[in-house]
Order: sequence, then C-alpha cells, then structure tokens
Amino acid sequence: MNKQKLIAWRELKPEVPAHARIANVDLVIIRWPDAEEVSVLYGRCQHRGALMVDGSVGDEKLTCRLHGSTYRYRSGKNIHYPGADLRRFSAWIEEGAVWVDADEIAEWEQSNPQKYQRDAYQGDYADFKGSDDEPHVKAIQALAADGLEKVGHHGAMAAMGVPGRTLPKWDDIQILTAQLHRPPLLDDEPVDTRVTIGSRSRSPWLWISRCSFRT
Ligand code: FES
Repeated sequence: MNKQKLIAWRELKPEVPAHARIANVDLVIIRWPDAEEVSVLYGRCQHRGALMVDGSVGDEKLTCRLHGSTYRYRSGKNIHYPGADLRRFSAWIEEGAVWVDADEIAEWEQSNPQKYQRDAYQGDYADFKGSDDEPHVKAIQALAADGLEKVGHHGAMAAMGVPGRTLPKWDDIQILTAQLHRPPLLDDEPVDTRVTIGSRSRSPWLWISRCSFRT
C-alpha cells in the first residue's frame, strides 16, 4: 500500500465537494453530513468528463452541472444509467486528514487511462467523448486547438454543389395554419385554404421559402 494524504479533515465541509489528483486521476472528495465518513470518487462525469468537483450536492446525490448526470455520492452509483458509475476508492480518516491508497488509484488508471494534457489548450476541460448530437463539436475543438495548420489556410474544402439528399424535402416544410381575417368568421363563411408557394405567392411572409397562406 502507498498511503497518501488528500486533504485535512477540518478543511472539508459536509457535502461540499473538494478536488484532488492522484496518479493522474481526478478525484472528488465528499464529507458525509451525518457521520465521520468520506467518499473519494473518480472525479469526472461518466457522460462527457466534466469535473465533478463543480457538481452540486444534495439529498445524498452528486449532480453534474453540465447535463445533469446524477450519482449517489455514498456509493458512486449512477442513478439513471446503471453501470456508468463513479468508482469509489478506499479512503479513511487518520491523524486529522483523509488518506487514500495511491497504488489502488494508479492500478485503476492503468485500465482507465486519463488522456488529459493538463498544460495544453483545453487541458482539464477537453471533451474526448463528444456526442452524435453535436457532430461539429470535434471539428470546432480541432480548429480551436490547431487553427488552420492541419486543414490549410482556406479551411476545410469540398466539391461545389449540394448533394440532393441534404436538400430540404417537402416534408421538412412545416405550415402552421392561422386565420388572417381579423374579425372571427361565422361557421358557415367560406374560407380559402389554398397554399401558394414560390414566386406567385402574394404574401411572402415566410421569406426563406416564399410560402404564403391566404384566406
Ligand atoms: S458531462 Fe456530466 S452530465 Fe454531461
């Protein structure tokens, strides 16, 4: 065992997260409010890697402030996604401080390598996971990190023209019907519900598609 001191006990306030880093692993430390007990958990959210020391604590839960992933801080269990838990490391209170076994954490790091380059641009806040919902984030981050160095001074280039599959389809046009006649019409009044799209449209109030709805 390689005993390592994390923080003085008196510096820890109940349910106020504190941060430490051992063996290149970010940790979040939480003092329990009702017992002389402490949780030392892996300190990065399992969703996109946010630092959990920035999370909010309450009701025995630690919640990531980015997108709301929530963990039980006594166990590290993810409340909504079983298995996507924060590893809880052995920790104990001794001589007025919180201690961990640095060997245990280093061993965990072997199978969970931490890619953060602390001194580089984005450093602690790099997002290695990304999301399919945000396909451009990786490109933006690469541009922010390397500028145009890797893509040339014109930036990313592609052939001219637009692939047909990316053009809007009729189904993409949403028409919200509304009555334009000011006074309410009686039930039996005829209403023209024809839609004119394009250059013959008289009221191009949807300026992109020049689509109008006349009554
Ligand atoms: S990074 Fe924590 S919820 Fe998304």
